[in-house]
Amino acid sequence: MVIYGSIITPLSKRDTLFSDYSLLRVSPLGTIDWVEHEVPPHKLEEALAKHGETVESIASQFRELKRGEWIIPGFVDTHTHAPQFQNNGAGSQFELLDWLKYVTFPEEQKYADVEYAKKMYRRVVRGSLDLGTTMCCWYGTLHLEGTKVLADVLNELGQRAYVGKCNMDRESAPTYQEASADDSLRDTLSFITHVEGLSSQPSQALVRPILTPRFAISCTGPLLQGLGEIAKQHPHLPIQTHISENSAEIAYTKELFPHCATYAAVYDHYGLLRENTILAHGVHLEQSELDLIKSRGAGISHCPTSNFNLRSGAAHVGEWLDNGNKCGLGTDCSGGWTASMITTMQLASVCSKVVSYYTKGDDASITGRFSKTQFAKYQLPIQTVFWLATMGGAEVCCLQDKIGSLEPGKLFDAVHVSILPETDNMHIWYDESESLESMFERFMTNGDERNVSEVWVSGRTVGGRLFK
Ligand code: GUN
Ligand code: ZN
Repeated sequence: MVIYGSIITPLSKRDTLFSDYSLLRVSPLGTIDWVEHEVPPHKLEEALAKHGETVESIASQFRELKRGEWIIPGFVDTHTHAPQFQNNGAGSQFELLDWLKYVTFPEEQKYADVEYAKKMYRRVVRGSLDLGTTMCCWYGTLHLEGTKVLADVLNELGQRAYVGKCNMDRESAPTYQEASADDSLRDTLSFITHVEGLSSQPSQALVRPILTPRFAISCTGPLLQGLGEIAKQHPHLPIQTHISENSAEIAYTKELFPHCATYAAVYDHYGLLRENTILAHGVHLEQSELDLIKSRGAGISHCPTSNFNLRSGAAHVGEWLDNGNKCGLGTDCSGGWTASMITTMQLASVCSKVVSYYTKGDDASITGRFSKTQFAKYQLPIQTVFWLATMGGAEVCCLQDKIGSLEPGKLFDAVHVSILPETDNMHIWYDESESLESMFERFMTNGDERNVSEVWVSGRTVGGRLFK
């Protein structure tokens, strides 16, 4: 496939490339062969000739975009729960610990029924793909068979994914809790074997297993210890969990693990804090924890929709970025009410505006917390929010060499965005003469799934408004 038209892709945390006339070729293997930027129509032949092509030779695979349409890298959702989609929009009057008990665990329990899992997970993954999410870090339930179904569906529908069976052997509900640490570890190993078996080339696999201790509260010391041992034996196996989301959760964690000075120290103590660890929320992380997390190379998933919805707090993401912590965005259904990374970007922007309102005048260089602030105290620039949803997420997943931006050699995980005033797209108003930057700002502020026309993973069309 050869695409000609506008491309928008992150260059750094602060800079985005806006190219009105790009020429991009996707190889049959789904990687980006080459990209030429700013090729005016009369230079098309010349640009093609550089790569040994002619207008005739690419005619059957040529796609030309109109003004108001562009290609961006696919969204990377670094944290969500597949068995909670049914609850999206429900239970928002609770805070975390009661919400888990009264709203979340009763729904997750239903996934003991494999037929229910089959029906629901297909809808869940279809929905996520149609929203432009090309890579997703999924939590299943504690059930081995049900979570295998989730992995199978991901593999079939073609979403790049990390998928984990939850480990939880205490502090849940009598009917929704694993019988022992040994049972949990045994099922985890079976799950890893199943997911790795889905691909003949595990290192190139689309769907990969991820260790998923739900959070410290729901895991006994022996379970965390056993998971640490599995992690040690499998250095490339990623790990995901929750951290410092809610004040009552933090206090209870410290009570359960009195030998650890901080919440982050609990995961570190059990060997679960490393480069490929993804920590969700982190709203109330202390400076010493941010430093520990950074020293281990772990990443943080910022989940603003959920943090607002469950009244967990407003994360100081600018401080994390200044501190050098890896960071991406997560939808966290159904703590958050939507699987849309577009809405999540909008809420990340709002969160940074709220935080900057309260921290303005707090000159971090004077308080001595940071020698240099680039992001703290200010609202996040639009470019930074876009970076978080794409490259930032790729870094958190340790996939920065493969996805997250549109560069030659990377996989073509991408979204065709359209704000053309056709059919039901009239929710974004713009003027024909507007710059690409200006149109993009409108998409970032007003966009939704109506603007997601087509979605590719490794060059394969897997979703979008026009995909049926
Ligand atoms: N902490 C432990 N489990 C969960 C969960 O399912 N959602 C959120 N938001 N936080 C959690
Ligand atoms: Zn979560």
